Amino acid sequence: MITMSTRQKLFFALICALLTCSVLGVIAWGEFSDDASENPSARQQRARAYAGRAIETGAELYSRLCVRCHNARGEGIASVAPALRRKDLFDGRRARELQWTGSIEAFLQNTLRAGRPIPSRADLYSARMPAWDREFGGTLSASQIEALVAFLLNWREGAAELNVWVGVPVPARTPTPAPQAGIARVCWGLSAPYAGKQSPYQLNDRTIIAQGKQIYDDRCAACHGASGKGDGPAAAVLNPKPANLTDPNFMRTLPIDCHFFVIAEGVRGTAMPPWKSLGEDFIWKVLVYTRSLSGVP
Ligand code: HEC
Ligand code: HEC
Repeated sequence: MITMSTRQKLFFALICALLTCSVLGVIAWGEFSDDASENPSARQQRARAYAGRAIETGAELYSRLCVRCHNARGEGIASVAPALRRKDLFDGRRARELQWTGSIEAFLQNTLRAGRPIPSRADLYSARMPAWDREFGGTLSASQIEALVAFLLNWREGAAELNVWVGVPVPARTPTPAPQAGIARVCWGLSAPYAGKQSPYQLNDRTIIAQGKQIYDDRCAACHGASGKGDGPAAAVLNPKPANLTDPNFMRTLPIDCHFFVIAEGVRGTAMPPWKSLGEDFIWKVLVYTRSLSGVP
């Protein structure tokens, strides 16, 4: 029978330990190299899948929200809105023209979020690029805006070399209406269907005022401020500034029918968006509430 000395036992144990370590080491190394080679590609795959989904979501949103002005293939609609599938929109020339210094992604994102309150060429395109971000009175979330940007960027390849901003200036279609003393300029020459419109609600109806306040807090306060003074968080970057709805002198220049009109149609060339797509009842309620802020009947 072979007996091992203590020394031999220790030596044997040491060999076993070393073997175990190296086996574990090889396994760990395998795992590690698996990690190194496989994780990035898995990550890339995930990223691609994510981008693919974003583009799909963007395409769905585009067909629902943008086609009526920019056409289904991004070719624009004559005298409504410009083409988007254009080289200069993606290679930075258009952004530079508008003094934008950030990336193209950020430029598109910014355009979608806040719209273009000031039309580049009102003589060429009658529509106004609306603000889409909820923060600016729109209906879309940040991730929906991102999806739209991903979708638009897909047009980068194969975008045509077009300059849609050249054109022959045409005279404004509506002649300047006659000034009316004591009445805001936007109200001059108010016509159908707005002229003479009357509120279906009493201006002191508390229930309506409370409902209107909710709409206001949700949709208007970002620009007009929590108390209506025109000092909301978004106001800092706006020019002209949102109106001070608590100022009785200003509100007196907005007769009820015209007040309804500006909420419904927005104010051209400013950040004030049109709200008519939300319906008359929405407009009347928020009107009744905001009028209560100034106390002007
Ligand atoms: C009511 C019509 C209308 C709708 C709806 C609309 N747009 Fe626009 N859009 C315009 C107009 C008009 C312009 C030109 C703005 C200007 O004068 O600079 C514009 C400009 C743009 C621009 C900047 C183009 C440039 O060269 O500066 C982008 C990008 C854009 N729109 C994307 C969209 C997307 C995406 C949607 C849908 C979520 C959309 N638009 C919906 C009317 C519209
Ligand atoms: C994205 C910012 C923004 C949002 C959101 C907004 N407004 Fe305005 N609003 C403005 C600006 C800017 C003006 C100033 C327009 C001007 O100088 O004529 C304005 C003006 C007005 C005026 C006065 C019209 C005038 O000739 O100045 C009324 C009334 C008004 N807004 C009501 C509302 C109501 C009600 C809401 C919510 C349903 C709302 N606004 C949401 C920016 C905004």
